[in-house]
Amino acid sequence: MWPVRFCVLILILAASTLFAQHQYTQSEIEAGKQQYAANCTRCHGPDGDALANADIGHGKFRRATSDDELVRIIRNGVPETTMAAANNISEPNAATIVAYLRSMAATAAASAALPPGNATRGKTVFEGKGGCASCHRVGDNGSRVGPDLSQIGGARRMVEIQRSILEPDAEVVPANRTFRVITRDGATITGRLLNQDSFTIQLLDSKEQLRSFSKSNLREYAFVNNSPMPSYRDKLSSQELADVVSYLASLKGLIP
Ligand code: HEC
Ligand code: HEC
Repeated sequence: MWPVRFCVLILILAASTLFAQHQYTQSEIEAGKQQYAANCTRCHGPDGDALANADIGHGKFRRATSDDELVRIIRNGVPETTMAAANNISEPNAATIVAYLRSMAATAAASAALPPGNATRGKTVFEGKGGCASCHRVGDNGSRVGPDLSQIGGARRMVEIQRSILEPDAEVVPANRTFRVITRDGATITGRLLNQDSFTIQLLDSKEQLRSFSKSNLREYAFVNNSPMPSYRDKLSSQELADVVSYLASLKGLIP
């Protein structure tokens, strides 16, 4: 009984993906995002536009029109170029990457809504008016309270950077979550979790001090969902925002 029903289910699922070829679910897009980061970002960049003759982030391709053709390019590579066949990427995984490329194109418009940015001016806003360096480090400058942004441009899309600045709580990368402890005598300390074992917790607190706690002395300890970073929606003009986003997008971990 089981196997037959199971096969029918698979057939139905297979048929529905065939018919719904251009409608992707959020979980397919998420899976594709991870595959993209692991296999494609190093050449095509987080926005898909790092190669001058192959912008794959805006939904227009020189070598493909359909999603099937994209799957084939991803798996077979492009002859006579450095894009080799990706034997490790299965067809279903390649399809999730296509889902992600389509979603990238659909959301690229958000950063297009900003005026063109200037990275040099953005650096000035970052270090001055924005006060960003009081929490973030770039190269050898700034604080360790927030994540180090020296390589942010190699890892995140411009729309993601923009969203982090306008809505810090919307999506916090797991590694960047804030940890909070409450001691038995009622003191609350928040910071970045550096390490924990069965008995102790080590935090870098909001003053960049290393703090160690015995779990037995704590009333509570857990990650918190929101970000300590303020939203800059009303603090920066759209030009300043565009400049800061350009500056961060230019940071790829190379010595400036
Ligand atoms: C080693 C570098 C490299 C990697 C890794 C790589 N690509 Fe490419 N990709 C290229 C190059 C180079 C081209 C061809 C540019 C040209 O047309 O001359 C290309 C072309 C393409 C094209 C055709 C573009 C068009 O306009 O038709 C697509 C689509 C594409 N890549 C998607 C991907 C995806 C998705 C991944 C990850 C699974 C990936 N590539 C990984 C270097 C790479
Ligand atoms: C009070 C400290 C603080 C200030 C000030 C601050 N940030 Fe942040 N920022 C954080 C923390 C903590 C996180 C990690 C949690 C999160 O993603 O919101 C973060 C996250 C980010 C991220 C996402 C990083 C990633 O890996 O995805 C970006 C981009 C960013 N900040 C840019 C800025 C910019 C630009 C400014 C100034 C305009 C700024 N921040 C000001 C604390 C701060």
